[in-house]
Amino acid sequence: MATEDSARGDGEFIQRDRGIYPPAFTPEYKTTVLRSPRLSLWSLQNSLSEVTGPVFGQDELGPLDNDLILNYAKDGQPIGERIIVHGHVHDENGRAVPRTLVEFWQANAGGRYRHRNDHYIAPIDPNFGGCGRTLTDDQGYYFFRTIKPGPYPWRNYVNSWRPAHIHFSVFGSGFAQRLITQMYFEGDPLIWKDAMIKIIPDEDAIRRLIAPLDLNASIPLDTLAYRFDIVLRGRWSTLFENRLQGN
Ligand SMILES: [Fe+2]
Repeated sequence: MATEDSARGDGEFIQRDRGIYPPAFTPEYKTTVLRSPRLSLWSLQNSLSEVTGPVFGQDELGPLDNDLILNYAKDGQPIGERIIVHGHVHDENGRAVPRTLVEFWQANAGGRYRHRNDHYIAPIDPNFGGCGRTLTDDQGYYFFRTIKPGPYPWRNYVNSWRPAHIHFSVFGSGFAQRLITQMYFEGDPLIWKDAMIKIIPDEDAIRRLIAPLDLNASIPLDTLAYRFDIVLRGRWSTLFENRLQGN
């Protein structure tokens, strides 16, 4: 007899564990007041095309897509701390998730995004775009090179600052599985002051968003490394902002 899990297609919707997620309405994170739903949610069945594809292949990627130090450089390299971010994408059983698209975007070293809606006083870096992407390899491993992003203020309450962070998106085997999260840096004192972090009710889930310094993967006299492993489902999963599958 098929169990509930094996009967379910790989990309099918699985209810999230709401115990580790912030409630939708959290006034300390001010914009949730207006955008949290007033009506109960509907679950929609995924269509076959959403579950099975399309998927990205190596053909779509450029040679510098996972090198944010060089992929926007014009007349020099971007200013800031050179870092490597790397890790594995696993499923809940510890199996690698191979050849899945991992995208990342971030502010520059001064905490400024290259985006027309970002009016923070810190300057744009002419040699830094802040976006990249890569595919995991057969072992589910990914890495990229970048500049450590700076913290930035935001209009929440007085002195609300975002800790340094990198935004991540992970595609599974189809668009409907897209997962979005943020990675933070070990030792950043702003993490525990952050309004978005404070509304996460599970401290272990918060810690899984914090990448430890990884000296073993650092390149001497060149680049520090941080390790960020992503787990797509189950008890040790990474907390995702738009969870469609897992937890
Ligand atoms: Fe951000």
